[in-house]
Amino acid sequence: MCGIFGIVTAQEQNLGPILIEAARRLTYRGYDSVGAATISGAKIDLRKDTGRVDDVAARHGLAEMSGSRGITQLRWATFGAPSQVNAQPHLDSDGDMVGAHNGNVVNNVELREQFLAEGMTVRSHNDGESCVHATERYINRGMDFIEAIRGAHADLQGDYAFVIGKINDDKLYAIKKGSGLVVGIGEGFTCVSSDLPSILPLTRKVLRIQDGEIITLWADRVELHSVKDGSLIQREPEQIVETMEAVQKGGFAHFMLKEIHDQPQVAREVMHMLAGSSDVQTVIEKIRAARHVYFIGCGTSYHACLAGAVYFAQVVGKAVIPVLAPQFIPQYLPAVGSEDVGLFVSQSGETKDVLNALQSAEARGMTCFGLANVIGSTLTKATSCWLPLCCGYEISVPATKTFTNQVVTFLYLAYRLGGRDVRELDAIPALMEQTIRSTAPQVEALVEAVNRWQDLYCLGYGATYPMALEGALKLKEITYAHCEGMLSTEFKHGPLSAVTAGLPILFATGPDDVPVIISGINEVTCRGGRAIAIGQEDARLRANASDLITLPKAEAEISSLLAVLPLQLLSYHMAVARGYDPDFPRNLSKTLTVD
Ligand code: M6R
Repeated sequence: MCGIFGIVTAQEQNLGPILIEAARRLTYRGYDSVGAATISGAKIDLRKDTGRVDDVAARHGLAEMSGSRGITQLRWATFGAPSQVNAQPHLDSDGDMVGAHNGNVVNNVELREQFLAEGMTVRSHNDGESCVHATERYINRGMDFIEAIRGAHADLQGDYAFVIGKINDDKLYAIKKGSGLVVGIGEGFTCVSSDLPSILPLTRKVLRIQDGEIITLWADRVELHSVKDGSLIQREPEQIVETMEAVQKGGFAHFMLKEIHDQPQVAREVMHMLAGSSDVQTVIEKIRAARHVYFIGCGTSYHACLAGAVYFAQVVGKAVIPVLAPQFIPQYLPAVGSEDVGLFVSQSGETKDVLNALQSAEARGMTCFGLANVIGSTLTKATSCWLPLCCGYEISVPATKTFTNQVVTFLYLAYRLGGRDVRELDAIPALMEQTIRSTAPQVEALVEAVNRWQDLYCLGYGATYPMALEGALKLKEITYAHCEGMLSTEFKHGPLSAVTAGLPILFATGPDDVPVIISGINEVTCRGGRAIAIGQEDARLRANASDLITLPKAEAEISSLLAVLPLQLLSYHMAVARGYDPDFPRNLSKTLTVD
């Protein structure tokens, strides 16, 4: 979410085309506004607006911009609506410094008040501007840039990286705290960016920046200082030899595996966004007052709707109707009206089945909201109010990080609506990290045994039922084996007859559902089946299941979400072991724009 790029060159030159290309290469992160600034002697040229890179570039002539230092930024709105004034970069009070950030400054509102009280000129509501004023505050006290950025770092709370420069100087400065930052060193220039794809077309000599490091960039060299004590840090640049595609995969063998590992970070980002979004309140108020509430989606997005309905009932005590989008029209349309609310959920925002349901619901006067990952997609344009999933591009056809962020969003809405403290959810990213780390070897140890079978079952109960459906879908989608997702208690009503010696059956369980899951486990194991449980460490599960994939200790709601992570990993490793490309399964497409 958001991206920054800055460049320092030995001579004044036409920087516009370089900045536009760098901005294009950051678009995969998601954005709604674009800006660029160049510094030439005592002059700063700042041009910015809402819209796509090429549109903003054409509208404001970004290609003509020149100087010896340049900054571009793609903004994805969190603090302050998408607008020209909130777009980045931002000037300081007297317009002789310019900077831009990536990330979230969570105390932005308080800082803005302080800056105004100190007599600074604050033009926007955007937290990137706070990074500039936080630096200005210390420059005004006579400090040099390194000291000023150290002061700013002490004042700015949250995860961010920012880049900043001043007139009549030959340098840019940047800092990393929580958000990505890489430096490129070329012939006659240096540059800094949120990510490698915008640097690699210019140079393959890079320095990876760590949290708490301040970078000074000259055209011919860079220096790193510790934000802690201002001391100089020595680091040798590295030469990137991988292809652009390998770099985009972030060192993982496939996009799917990278996206599985992206989940903790994007969960962090979506929760930051939700905390600062006024649209959340609109959605909550309408849901609170609604006669009936529908969560509508297809495939993976439908499974998130199911999980959302479970959380709304459990956390809020509010019944919600989860619906597969194509079934919405025949089953519910005659019953809906203006007293009802629909939340239409789609990663791509282009799924025809979802858009058909939306169109029909709107025609009946229903209040319709969207939950989508692709900004600018049809769903985001067709709903007056929509919430973004904040995942950046999801390239792999099997949805992973967009699913977990859909579920996190539903949990967040349920907590807010139910009056529960949303800070409890702050534990999610670290728990996800722990789950991925600790379950990966447990899953890999089971791959060979499970992969011998072509027919599998994945069962869950309560909040893990949607996770079981999602796990089964992932398995089918990329291993081409048959896997049926079911409510665990339904298994005895028929499928139990399919159990033969050694048949693996996956059981996902939350901590409160262990007794009911154990009944299911025993029905299977006493007939020779292999019950693989996924749940928190529990003596009862250990004693009854054939295998236990252990999840970290967590609240029941969060634990259900964690259960899907080993299922994603299992599908991935089974597909790879079968020789299939998990990123691009046969017959499937990422976006389904047909009926
Ligand atoms: O873009 P959408 O979320 O609307 O897509 C809906 C389904 O096609 C999608 O979730 C599909 O089931 C997944 N790619 C499966 O991993």
